Amino acid sequence: MKKNIRLKNGTNIPPLGLGTWCIGDRPEKAQQEITALLTGIDQGMTLIDTAEMYGEGLSEKLVGKVISKYLQKGNREDLYIVSKVLPWNAGRNKIHQACESSMKRLEIDYLDLYLYHWIGDIPLAEVVEGLNQLQEQGLIRGWGVSNFDTADIKQLLQIPGGENCLVNQNLYHPASRGIEYDLLELMYQHDIIHMSYCPLAQGGRIAKGLQENATIRDIAEAHNVTPSQVLLAWNIRNGKTVAIPKSASANHIMENAAACDITLTPKELEAIDTAYPPPTCKLPLDTE
Ligand SMILES: NC(=O)c1ccc[n+]([C@@H]2O[C@H](COP(=O)([O-])OP(=O)(O)OC[C@H]3O[C@@H](n4cnc5c(N)ncnc54)[C@H](OP(=O)(O)O)[C@@H]3O)[C@@H](O)[C@H]2O)c1
Repeated sequence: MKKNIRLKNGTNIPPLGLGTWCIGDRPEKAQQEITALLTGIDQGMTLIDTAEMYGEGLSEKLVGKVISKYLQKGNREDLYIVSKVLPWNAGRNKIHQACESSMKRLEIDYLDLYLYHWIGDIPLAEVVEGLNQLQEQGLIRGWGVSNFDTADIKQLLQIPGGENCLVNQNLYHPASRGIEYDLLELMYQHDIIHMSYCPLAQGGRIAKGLQENATIRDIAEAHNVTPSQVLLAWNIRNGKTVAIPKSASANHIMENAAACDITLTPKELEAIDTAYPPPTCKLPLDTE
């Protein structure tokens, strides 16, 4: 997979990674899911996004199996493992234990990226202190946040050590572009990379609308690809976004990985802007 994205700590990550929400929940699907994720790694989707919240640890456990299987032939350094701490576990008394528990389930001894899943009640300065300590202790290589809007990022950047934030993970697809209004620009100014969740709109009603949209379908036809691939190519179009589609199907994952090689023309991007206009005012942060 080409077009790596460079984080400000010097690490390169691929523009497409593997989401794992709902993966690992059902034992009877485990083998298919492990095969699917290993296929993704094979295709260059070496970034895996999980969270202690997903299936209350079941997703991390399944990803742990994938990692051990991969390590039978590959190197840990080739993978980029992302997990997230729940807001109520992010205080100074709990964050260390939460991180250790995630790593135990993942069968690894460091996380590449640890995200504060969403803003909770614990003072942000305390969370930042905890994340920076985990980094100093070598348990995590870097940290970031998720579901942070413009005001939240501004608050974060005023906290000592807050500038170490590498990534902000937010929902983003053509039918939900609110973050383009002012959040993305602020992040770019501070070299905070955007990690895009639900890039396929979660496969629900909105996803169906996107998949069936005439503009998306025409572009897919012109490139001889699927509408999902167009949506992913659009998501990562500017080289500053990493998208993390989830799939439990090896075929879908092969398809998703190939989206990295699609370049949409300015005319096609304009057509998508007409079908799904960018925001003209501040909108509430979309999270589902
Ligand atoms: N930070 C946060 O608060 C947050 C919130 C939500 C999600 N996330 C992360 O972001 C990841 C992605 O978001 P998501 O899982 O909610 O939604 P998504 O990736 O937008 O959509 C997943 C759905 O798309 C389907 N799909 C995937 N590839 C496809 C393809 N090529 N063709 C047709 N359908 C395809 C999947 O079905 P199949 O499995 O059948 O392929 C699944 O139903 C999550 O898994 C999670 O890691 C983070």
